[in-house]
Amino acid sequence: MSLLVTNIKSLVNARIENKLLRGKELSELPCTENAYLLLKDGKIDSYGPMDELVHATSYYDEVYDAAGQFVLPCWCDSHTHLVFAGSRESEFVDKIKGLSYADIAARGGGILNSAKKLQEMPEEELLELAEKRLNEIIRFGTGAVEIKSGYGLTVEAELKMLRVINELKAISPVPVKATFLGAHAYPSQFKNDHAGYIRMITEEMLPAIAENNLADYIDVFCEEGFFSVDETLAICEAGKKYGLKAKIHANQLNLSGGVQAGIKAKALSVDHLETIDIDAIEQLSSSDTIGTMLPGAAFFLQMQYPPARQMLSAGCALALASDYNPGSCPSGNMNMVLALACIQMKMLPEEAINAATINGAYAMELEKELGSITAGKKANLIITKQIPSLSYLPYSFGNNLIDKVIINGEFI
Ligand code: NIG
Ligand code: FE
Repeated sequence: MSLLVTNIKSLVNARIENKLLRGKELSELPCTENAYLLLKDGKIDSYGPMDELVHATSYYDEVYDAAGQFVLPCWCDSHTHLVFAGSRESEFVDKIKGLSYADIAARGGGILNSAKKLQEMPEEELLELAEKRLNEIIRFGTGAVEIKSGYGLTVEAELKMLRVINELKAISPVPVKATFLGAHAYPSQFKNDHAGYIRMITEEMLPAIAENNLADYIDVFCEEGFFSVDETLAICEAGKKYGLKAKIHANQLNLSGGVQAGIKAKALSVDHLETIDIDAIEQLSSSDTIGTMLPGAAFFLQMQYPPARQMLSAGCALALASDYNPGSCPSGNMNMVLALACIQMKMLPEEAINAATINGAYAMELEKELGSITAGKKANLIITKQIPSLSYLPYSFGNNLIDKVIINGEFI
C-alpha cells in the first residue's frame, strides 16, 4: 500500500542523520520546500523536491495533494499522566480564590485526591476514559506518548494503573511507553513513615511490576514535601536493578536538587525545570540527560516558566512535553505547548518544533522510529491547513491548524 503526498509547501524536520539536538542545534530545522513524500506499508519510504519524483502520480495507490500545506512529524509527547479517574476543577477554583498547588496538596487534595478516585474506579472504566484521551491527543497530532502511573499509591492500584497503560499499549495505534511513578506522593498513612512507603515501592511494587513487565521507566517526584534527593536516588537505584531507567520530576516548585539527582542516576530525562539555577543548568548541559520542559503546567499553575533561553545557551538537550494530568495541566494538546514555548519561553518556532519532535522521541528512546521525516521511520505525520509559514503554527495559538493526521501511513 503506497500513499504519495504531493506539492507539500514544506516538509518539516526532514533529516538523514538521527541525533539528539543540544543548544543551538535546536534552531536548525531542515525543511524541503515544494516536496513530495512517499509512504509505504506504514513507513516513510522516500521524499524530495517535486521535480525529483520519478513516476507519474498514477503509479501510486493513493495520492494526496498537499498544496499550500506543511507536513511535520507527529508530536512526541514524552511526559503525561493521562490515565486518571476524574478531573479536579474544584481545586482549580480554589486556586483562582488564592490557594497554591502546595496548599492544596497539604490538605489532602492534589495527587492524593486523584489517588483516592483511581483506587475506587474499576480497571475497565479507567481504560475507557484513558483511551478516549489518547484518541483525542492523536487527533491533535501526537504520534507517540509516555504515560505514568502514580495515582495508585498502593500496590494494588499502582499495578492496576500500569495494567491500564499496558492495555493502551496493546490497542494504541501510536507507540506508548509506560513509566512507574509509585513515588509521586506519600499516601497519608505513610506521612510519618517515609521509609515504610519506600520499602513498599522497592520490595513489593517493583518486583511485581518487573515480573509482569509492566514498566519501561521509573519516575520520582523529587520535591520539598514529596521525595528528597536521597529518597529519589534510592528509588532510582532500586529501579535500575530491574532494568528501569529513570525519568525524574525535578525542580518544579523548588530548587529541589532533582536535576543533580537525575544526572547522578543517569536519568534519561529530568522534567519540569521551572525552578532551576546556574549550577543545575551547567550540570545538565554536560550530561547525557535530556531536560524536558512542560510549559502547560507552568501556564496552568501560573508559575515561572523554565528558562529555556538560558538552558539553550548553555548547550542543554531540551524536549517539550504536555504533562497532561488532572492537577497541573488538564490538556494534552501539544500545539498549545508549542505556542507557550514560543510565546512565554521565547523559543524560536524551529527550536520548539525540534524539542517536541526529535528530542521528544529521544526522551522516550523512540528516535529510531519517530521524531523526524526520515526514510524507514513510522509514517506518523501532521498535515497542517494552508498556512502562510511555519511560524504561523505557534503564532496563531489556540486555533486548530491541523487538517489531517496520518498514523502508520493512514489518515485517521
Ligand atoms: O507533573 N508534579 C507532580 N506531578 C504532576 C501533577 C500531578 C497532580 O497534580 O495530579 C506534574 O505536574
Ligand atoms: Fe508530570
